Amino acid sequence: MPSLSIGVFDSGFGGLTVLKALLEVIPEADYLYFGDTARLPYGSKSAETVTKYAVEAARFLNQQGAQMLVVACNTATALALDKIARSVSIPVVGVVEPGAQRAAAASRKRKAVVIGTEATISSHAYLRALQNLGVEAREKACPLFVPLVEEGWIEHAVTEQVARIYLGEAFSDGFESADVLVLGCTHYPLIKSLLRRLAQPHVTVVDSAESTAHVVRDLLGHDVKRSVKSSLAPLQFFATDSVEKFRRLGARFLDRPINSVQHIDLKE
Ligand code: DGL
Repeated sequence: MPSLSIGVFDSGFGGLTVLKALLEVIPEADYLYFGDTARLPYGSKSAETVTKYAVEAARFLNQQGAQMLVVACNTATALALDKIARSVSIPVVGVVEPGAQRAAAASRKRKAVVIGTEATISSHAYLRALQNLGVEAREKACPLFVPLVEEGWIEHAVTEQVARIYLGEAFSDGFESADVLVLGCTHYPLIKSLLRRLAQPHVTVVDSAESTAHVVRDLLGHDVKRSVKSSLAPLQFFATDSVEKFRRLGARFLDRPINSVQHIDLKE
């Protein structure tokens, strides 16, 4: 029986929330996870830089034998999905379209708030995807969330205060009635309960990570049923910076221990 190998790419540790969702929905597959930890964050970089980095990472996973590539990073998806898809010979799935589709399905008011990094928000990728599905969107960059989550300040008074301010600004000026909050960044699933608590009760919180895992499963269809997890290395991790830090921080995002990580130097 063949094993199905899915490549997952992110700027760092955050994409492990997408891997976690994939493991829940497609446990039969093998996974190759690449975190570009030496070059994160992507969220404050230009489209040119993010595209260059993302294409290198995608090619690496393609060469390692991935049969499908999931671009777990919202910023890389928003800024470079087409170019990534053109640079590899395997199907590529990003996180923006699945998140937008789930949001559109959940919104009765046809109004959604999307939060993400500075780069994701200024690309307007979510705004366009939602507009195409008949949903009006308010986009709000929340650059403080990534460092707060990486600091481990999940249920923390400072994070709560910051979230109150961001959400207050986003759900205002005509968007008080928005009934969906899209988590458009890999790190935000870790503060989902906090955001759930702070948002109005009528708001549905949509997690791009979960939505993407379901889209990948639908795309793979029969291949998933035929796949058998390989016993030797069902989960392989590659990082461009310290493997020790990846193990330590990564375990929080993946919600399980990470034993072995391979260090990779990508040639520019
Ligand atoms: N992975 C990024 C995203 O989902 C967040 C971290 C970064 O800025 O690199 O947008």
